[in-house]
Amino acid sequence: MARASESWSSPLGFVLAAAGSAVGLGNLWGFAYRAFQGGGGAFVVLYLVIVLVVCLPVLVAEMVLGRSTGHAPLIAPVTAGGRRWAPLGLLFLAAAIGILAFYAVLMGWTGRTLLHALLVGLPADMAASESFFALISSSGGGAVLGLLVSLALTGAVVAAGVRGGIERLSRWGMPALFLLLLGLLIWAAFLPGAGAGYHQFLLRWDPAKLLDPTTIRNAFTQAFFSIGTGIGAILAYAAYLNRRSALAIEAVSVVGMDTAVGLMAGCVTFPLVASFGLGEVVSGSTVGTLFIALPTGLASLGMAGRLVAVLFFGLAYIAAITSSVSLLEVPVSSLIDGLGWRRREAVWSCVGLVGVLGLPPALNTAALEVMDALFGGVLLILGGLLVALLLSWQAPARFLADLQGCATPPGLRRALLLSLRWISVPAIAVGLGVSVLDLAKMWLG
Ligand code: TRP
Repeated sequence: MARASESWSSPLGFVLAAAGSAVGLGNLWGFAYRAFQGGGGAFVVLYLVIVLVVCLPVLVAEMVLGRSTGHAPLIAPVTAGGRRWAPLGLLFLAAAIGILAFYAVLMGWTGRTLLHALLVGLPADMAASESFFALISSSGGGAVLGLLVSLALTGAVVAAGVRGGIERLSRWGMPALFLLLLGLLIWAAFLPGAGAGYHQFLLRWDPAKLLDPTTIRNAFTQAFFSIGTGIGAILAYAAYLNRRSALAIEAVSVVGMDTAVGLMAGCVTFPLVASFGLGEVVSGSTVGTLFIALPTGLASLGMAGRLVAVLFFGLAYIAAITSSVSLLEVPVSSLIDGLGWRRREAVWSCVGLVGVLGLPPALNTAALEVMDALFGGVLLILGGLLVALLLSWQAPARFLADLQGCATPPGLRRALLLSLRWISVPAIAVGLGVSVLDLAKMWLG
């Protein structure tokens, strides 16, 4: 089979696209609500440790798997590890499709909240906000429409190709997003409750949470989901990369940008929540919280609040679409590479399939939460574990050789391999075990 025929226009194009994939609704919405659940500081510390010691080497491994084989996620594991690894390719596809199905529903909610803030205004109080949320999330028609529009936009970008679609979107989307977020950050710093908000986010320290299984599961899930490693999305992007780009440095930039955006977003949402006294609502948190809490709080600020709502949800939508394209690229590139389909055919068939699978989460928020926990949690972490095993135990020579071609100092290469083997693999295995037990207890017990 031929190596990928498309490519990025430059290493920067790849880094922006990979950062676009990483920075998404997970940073803006998942990070904040999981941090509330995990008692603030304890969650943040756990999250940062997992990102740096566990996920960063896995991200490099996933990049190596894509770049060194030049193949799509369905095929790359077989090329690197032989036939036995074929199930990993299928796992990548199943997880990417499953995540995209509920992610597109969340995008739909975001888009509808944006349009509502823009055209109609904000809900005046909590009751109005809850009924607005019921309207966008579960009243059938609306949520399905949001899902389909978001998928259609995602499909249009992916159909335009790697360079002409995905890279072009990230090149303006990422800087725009940073600027908007910076503006909001400064604005939030002057809110009356800002200090209390930061305190709750970063400084509230509850050591018992460090051993709480739900916090551990949330920290692992959030780390893998936010960086977007474990299901072949970055693998697919890296397959379009040339030999010389410096993978380790690129991985560090992606992780750095992703973590910065997560922390910045927390420094916007926590002051908001504190200053509007919404702590109660958010700590009993579910997926819908920010969609309820933010617009209501902002409504009390009149026109300025409405403007901020438009900026925040606009920014969230940009972040979401640069992420959803990477999820769609997993099955699309696999159909192109594995079955020789044309890009357009592959895109619209996958969009059709995901549109159908997105109906349950669009019609029922409980289904959405289950899919989030299973595809965005368990399967994603399992994928990360298998990627780490493949590159550190099954094919370590490929890992070292590929990094050698791109100016990574030998000491760093060995250090990455060793931490992949002896830290990432056992830590992910523990994280996976804790997650499965925690979910089993929650659902069965
Ligand atoms: N990282 C994105 C977010 O935080 C979502 C995402 C994009 C993702 N690609 C992924 C999650 C691959 C898991 C795997 O919103």
